[in-house]
Amino acid sequence: MTTDTALPPTPDYDAWPIEARLQAVESSPRQVSVRWSDGRVSRYHSIWLRENAADDTTVNPATRERILDLSTLPAWPEIANAEIDGSGALCIDFVPEERRLRFHPGWLRAHDYDNAADDEAPLVPVTTWRGGPGERPDSLDASGLLDSEPGDDAEEAILAPALEAILGKGLARLRNLPTEPGSLEAIARRIGPVRPTNFGQLFDVRAKPEPDSNAYTSIALPPHVDLPTREYHPGLQCLHCLENSVAGGEAVMLDGFAVAEALRERDPQAYATLTRVRWRFANTARTTDHVWHAPMIRLDARGELLEVRIADFLRGPLQTDFAEVEPAYEALMALQRLLREPEFAIRFTYQPGDLVIFDNRRLLHARDAFEGDSGHRWLQGCYLERDEIRSRYRMIQRARRQRRIGAEER
Ligand SMILES: [Fe+2]
Repeated sequence: MTTDTALPPTPDYDAWPIEARLQAVESSPRQVSVRWSDGRVSRYHSIWLRENAADDTTVNPATRERILDLSTLPAWPEIANAEIDGSGALCIDFVPEERRLRFHPGWLRAHDYDNAADDEAPLVPVTTWRGGPGERPDSLDASGLLDSEPGDDAEEAILAPALEAILGKGLARLRNLPTEPGSLEAIARRIGPVRPTNFGQLFDVRAKPEPDSNAYTSIALPPHVDLPTREYHPGLQCLHCLENSVAGGEAVMLDGFAVAEALRERDPQAYATLTRVRWRFANTARTTDHVWHAPMIRLDARGELLEVRIADFLRGPLQTDFAEVEPAYEALMALQRLLREPEFAIRFTYQPGDLVIFDNRRLLHARDAFEGDSGHRWLQGCYLERDEIRSRYRMIQRARRQRRIGAEER
């Protein structure tokens, strides 16, 4: 056993609590097998260990990004000796480099190849939902959000359950926020940067003269996602209510994944058609011209629902194989009938200070018509990406792990 007593760094900025200690190690030139204190056995290849070392020939210590190009090594890295050192780290002598590298046991355990399936699973389990009378979005008192410091406990107490609801169910309603115009940007930045579009950094949803979208009128809007006319439509949409004193204008939301699942059950052929046929989505305004072709339902590499792309008023003329046209319209109408079923929808009225954040590639939103001269209805909106909410949620998880390590060390 060597005399190192301090744990080595990890090749990242994360925190890796030690779930189990290394107890035994066996190696051959190209493999190492370790046994943990809870009996689990993990195996790693020499090439994998070499590329994931945390020393400053492998990782730039300033950025924790890899600088090693494996193909510049003198030969395939092999293990001359492997042992557990005094700190509990795995310590390996690599040849022909003649380099000794150490691996943090918490990091090594977390990156066991067998954890890959867990790693690719969603951060929060996705649960589809149906609506119906009396159903409301998960609601949280967010009155202290803008008075909190970024990253402090008060911010985390509001953001963590909100992000969990958005990741799992696709939406959350934050209540009791300020109603100053423009305050949405500071609120959204607590999650991540805003994605600007041709409608601006923030957009105003209210009836206005010379509207460039049906959203900016008082007419009803059918269930839709925003900006399906883009190669990837925004992952998150925020709608922040500043004023609402009109008659009508109730908000409606549906879980597009629940609708897609219902279609798969009731009409598998229509479902399959909508995962296959690429429709044209177009928004040709006075100064912009956005067009994209994509199926209405898309699955990820694991076969799970990835996104829906539904907006009748932004759908252009279908151009596809002649034989596909009638089945495509039959499938579309089967979907449209489901979208009208009240059991899928939750309905609610925006109160000033409400902010609804929802997954715009999963949920559909709609609006009843309102009487434009009965009062004022003013929402401000913006977009973010799913990546930002995932990153923010991982940062919360990292902070929790760091606190745990700190508590264990005390
Ligand atoms: Fe919209």
